[in-house]
Amino acid sequence: MKIIPVNASRSYCVHIGDGLLTALGKEAAAVIKPGKAAIISDSNVWPLYGKEATKSLEKAGFETVNFVFPAGEASKTSAVYLEVLNFLAENHITRSDCVIALGGGVVGDLTGFAAATFLRGIAYIQVPTTLLAAVDSSVGGKTAIDLPAGKNLAGAFYQPKLVLCDITTLASLPEDIFRDGCAEVIKYGILYDPQLFAHLEKHTLAFDREYVIARCVELKRDVVLEDEFDTGARMRLNLGHTFGHGIEAQSNFTVSHGKAVAIGMAIVSRAGARLGVCDPQAKDHILRLLDCFGLSVTTDCSAPDIYRCALSDKKRSGGSVNLIIPERIGFCRIQPTPVEELQSFLEAGL
Ligand code: GLY
Repeated sequence: MKIIPVNASRSYCVHIGDGLLTALGKEAAAVIKPGKAAIISDSNVWPLYGKEATKSLEKAGFETVNFVFPAGEASKTSAVYLEVLNFLAENHITRSDCVIALGGGVVGDLTGFAAATFLRGIAYIQVPTTLLAAVDSSVGGKTAIDLPAGKNLAGAFYQPKLVLCDITTLASLPEDIFRDGCAEVIKYGILYDPQLFAHLEKHTLAFDREYVIARCVELKRDVVLEDEFDTGARMRLNLGHTFGHGIEAQSNFTVSHGKAVAIGMAIVSRAGARLGVCDPQAKDHILRLLDCFGLSVTTDCSAPDIYRCALSDKKRSGGSVNLIIPERIGFCRIQPTPVEELQSFLEAGL
């Protein structure tokens, strides 16, 4: 088991290991005085882990209530968010109570935003059950819901009190969803860590779960400490996301987040190599690794369609978008790109 401290505006620990769900109540009680715990989960995760989470919390003295919404990105809306807030209000959740996000990225983002805004902020705990949530979205305090105009456009920076990642829960993930998380794992290797990248090249899908998740969390922790509110270094975590979000939206979310990010990373690597920014060998390694993980590096979406969606990217600032472009494995540059140059960049990478 590994424990990684995150000393952000609010300090907390990320626990990573096998079988941790049974200790949820004990670990929660160590950071929050037991009162009511509202468990928010989705229709995929609740039947698998709801009972165990409830049992553990109740054993530690929490009184639990639960709210379960349909699984999938289509639930990350203002409507479901308001349902969660109403649920918390109807169950008389107070500032001394807490909310538990039991699930993947959608559950974590939406629950975190509800926790950030209900009663102007109540304590919450992230219990990620997907690889994507474990290595990225559950750590660092970004919470959000989607708006019709784009992904994650309404949200807050709000750090959890604890992140508890039970690696055993990843075993029940459909392979497709697991691969989704692999795209984010590969992202961390490209951004910061040639050794992590080499481990993934060597082991592909059989990578060491605890080492890789803990390493990604450490890397993310370091970025969050440097730039918690996403005004500089943290933007690098957007590698592959500007065009990825466009592909996701264009496909009506039939292309999942991780797969879209993988294509986005391939696009910026190819365009970067053509423009002399990305080392061509690094580009080849990136494309090969994505392929080894069964992640597509091409898309049927057209450049104008992706471009249109990329314009509503959160990383847009005035007339330019901050593109994250790999220079070599372990380092990416932040390149402010005028919106009028974005489409030709995109075309160079498709
Ligand atoms: N998922 C990107 C970030 O936390 O900044």
